[in-house]
Amino acid sequence: MFKVTLLPGDGIGPEVINAAVNVLKYAAEKFNIEFEFTEKEIGGCSYEKYGTPLTDEVLSECYSSDAVFLGAVGGPKWEKLPHNLKPEAALLKLRKSLGLYANLRPAKVYNSMLSASSLKESVLADTDVMILRELTGGIYFGEPRGYDSDKGFNTMVYSRDEVERIARYAFELARGRKGRVTSVDKANVLEVSQFWRDTVHQVHTEYPDVELNDMYVDNAAMQLVRDPKQFDLILTSNLFGDILSDIAAMITGSLGMLPSASIGKNYALYEPVHGSAPDIAGQGKANPIAAIASAAMMLKYSFEIDKASELIECSLENILAEGYRTADIFSEGCKLVTTIQMTDLVIEEFDKLYVDQAINVFTL
Ligand code: IPM
Ligand code: MN
Repeated sequence: MFKVTLLPGDGIGPEVINAAVNVLKYAAEKFNIEFEFTEKEIGGCSYEKYGTPLTDEVLSECYSSDAVFLGAVGGPKWEKLPHNLKPEAALLKLRKSLGLYANLRPAKVYNSMLSASSLKESVLADTDVMILRELTGGIYFGEPRGYDSDKGFNTMVYSRDEVERIARYAFELARGRKGRVTSVDKANVLEVSQFWRDTVHQVHTEYPDVELNDMYVDNAAMQLVRDPKQFDLILTSNLFGDILSDIAAMITGSLGMLPSASIGKNYALYEPVHGSAPDIAGQGKANPIAAIASAAMMLKYSFEIDKASELIECSLENILAEGYRTADIFSEGCKLVTTIQMTDLVIEEFDKLYVDQAINVFTL
């Protein structure tokens, strides 16, 4: 029995989480696993009810779960709130409290989606890049920080332990991929980046089988749109990873496609990279693919049911190849579907693939 805490959050969060949970339930049935889902509030909806975007009760629920599955937080309604009450503060507190230092954001191009991107097909074809973003350090959490009538300030700081553990994670992860790590920093200007670079190279001596190169973040932003295929795994700090992963998302055609996993020593959280999109909430327009792909990551990274995870990914690929599109990725000649229709199609395809592979195994 796997305990999963659901935190649908704000805007389209509930719709996409609902979609992904339906897929998870279906996969559970087929693969003989049992999930216990507990749903709680986070972000703006929690603020409205309890006066805080994250209650202690929700946090302790997360501590007692095997995985956390989050939708999205935020919206214009809460933008004017003080920093610590903003919906985003809940997400940051959750990441820090659960020690989720490794943020995996894979940007893979689906062949049938090549024309959906604003970039040329020839530039995009076969792109498969993993952005590994350090998630509990850097300028997001550095002290001192503050805001007064004369100035606002933050501190970008990384300790040796923080850099070493994310570098190790990167090299291990790269071993299961093409074995190439690009560490992205701003070492020509920032001491914190020079320290990052030196430390990553020290750790690299333990992984001689993995290739390592360094790149400045401004150049990396350019290279991601110039020739994304050159990258296998991009290792970078919290703020740079935030920015680069949005760029990488557009390589896939829409932010609605990008899943993520945030992993620590004892806990893991899965969430679509996209935001709460309040303008389209409740209209059945939300793209559930990022959330469903995040559920697939949960099956793989938290529960090690790789086969179920692969079947979900394959189902997504096939449905897109058949031309089904939600509004955000719709183009001429495709079939426009709602959030629920897309989800049902994925489940149907999953079922088909499941039967096919069962037959294949049987006849082997
Ligand atoms: C993300 C988001 C968050 C971040 C916000 C909502 C706090 O942009 O997950 O990329 O900056 O990390
Ligand atoms: Mn972001």
